[in-house]
Amino acid sequence: MSSPTERSLVLIKPDAVRRGLLGEILSRFESKGLVIEALELRTMDGSLADAHYAEHVDKAFYPPLKDFMTSGPLAALILSGDSAVEVVRSMIGATDGRKAAAGTIRGDLALSNRENLVHASDSPESAERELALWFPKF
Ligand code: CMP
Repeated sequence: MSSPTERSLVLIKPDAVRRGLLGEILSRFESKGLVIEALELRTMDGSLADAHYAEHVDKAFYPPLKDFMTSGPLAALILSGDSAVEVVRSMIGATDGRKAAAGTIRGDLALSNRENLVHASDSPESAERELALWFPKF
């Protein structure tokens, strides 16, 4: 049985760009067989941060998260492939890099629950919402 092709919105966060990990993280997704449909280096502004993280804006961790996410360029991409949403989430690992399993991107490369290198849509519905925010023409 084949799975449906899906699209996921992925952000390779400012910490990854600053640390020179953009190539390594992109390479992991490419090696898995996911297709990069769009890729853009851009700096998130405050209003896009509030819209993207709408479910978190009232949480205590949001102000420092917003400062971090708007602190410099990130890579925004559309990844597609069979079950892409679930596959990408399993590749990036648990939110907290200290607890993420070895072999995942965060488990291998992150030591923080804020500066955790990658964001990826957590469901096909979130992907549609996030793709419309970041790539309205796609
Ligand atoms: P992300 O997958 O982008 O989704 C929400 C982000 O909030 C998460 O990755 C982390 O960067 C951040 N985050 C989630 N929980 C916490 C927390 N307890 N403390 C600090 N940052 C958090």
